[in-house]
Amino acid sequence: MQISMLSMSIAALFYIAFIILAYGLVSKIIQYKNTPAPLKIPTMPAPTTQAGVVFRMSKEVVFFESLFKSSKATWLFGWLFHFGLFLDMLRHLRYFIDPVWFWVIIIQPFGKYGSILMFVGLAGLLTRRIIVDRVRYISSPSDHLMLVLLLCITTTGMAMSFYLGADVISVKSFFIGLMTLNIQNIPADPVLIIHLIMVASLMIIFPYSKLLHAPGLFFSPSRNQVDNAREKRHISKWAKELEKN
Ligand code: HEM
Repeated sequence: MQISMLSMSIAALFYIAFIILAYGLVSKIIQYKNTPAPLKIPTMPAPTTQAGVVFRMSKEVVFFESLFKSSKATWLFGWLFHFGLFLDMLRHLRYFIDPVWFWVIIIQPFGKYGSILMFVGLAGLLTRRIIVDRVRYISSPSDHLMLVLLLCITTTGMAMSFYLGADVISVKSFFIGLMTLNIQNIPADPVLIIHLIMVASLMIIFPYSKLLHAPGLFFSPSRNQVDNAREKRHISKWAKELEKN
């Protein structure tokens, strides 16, 4: 089978994007892990046991608890976007696994309509950056661009899903082919190709942008520390090493 130039280029783009994403994520997480936390600074009231910290982090990850406490509008749009993204990413799993797991089949319609939540959430977050004076003042071009990129990925996806249709069988064999180093042809569908180029750009930007808050949350001392300063003296790792010398 003759592999088109387009397919070769998209395949190369995804290999490069994947390497940058994986390398970037691993190196940033190592950097986060090794960053000293010299002081006990959990935001109070804080859990006094490790199990309590796990419960606190779970509420952060699932409900965005501290964002809820600080801004209801940002919380609403932020949560809608992330919840919709979560559902739709589960739906997207079908392009990467064969046979498709039964719960991925069940989730398909929820994922599709999750895209509406994503769109509403992103539109709300972008509107907030533009119309709320104090937020506009502290926004940099990258804050806007990140939202615009996510909005464009969402709208091209929705255009295919709700109006234009896409050859999902060929998309799947292309991506399974990428994973098994057996490159297949990708349909020359302009909306699909734009969707994919933007997804690859997102993968490249991810580890070097504010989008890294996803893994970063777990390394935040104000959230992941136990309130046990009275029972146990807190000495950071580097301070322990200094004491030894
Ligand atoms: C390599 C990864 C990806 C591939 C192969 C892919 C492919 C596709 C395809 C073929 C569709 C049309 C589905 C249909 O017609 O039923 C679609 C829809 C969509 N995509 Fe992606 N996409 C990828 C990553 C992403 C990412 C990272 C996002 C979000 C940031 C995203 C957001 C969407 C949305 C919102 C839709 C519309 C709802 C849906 O049908 O799922 N996609 N995608």
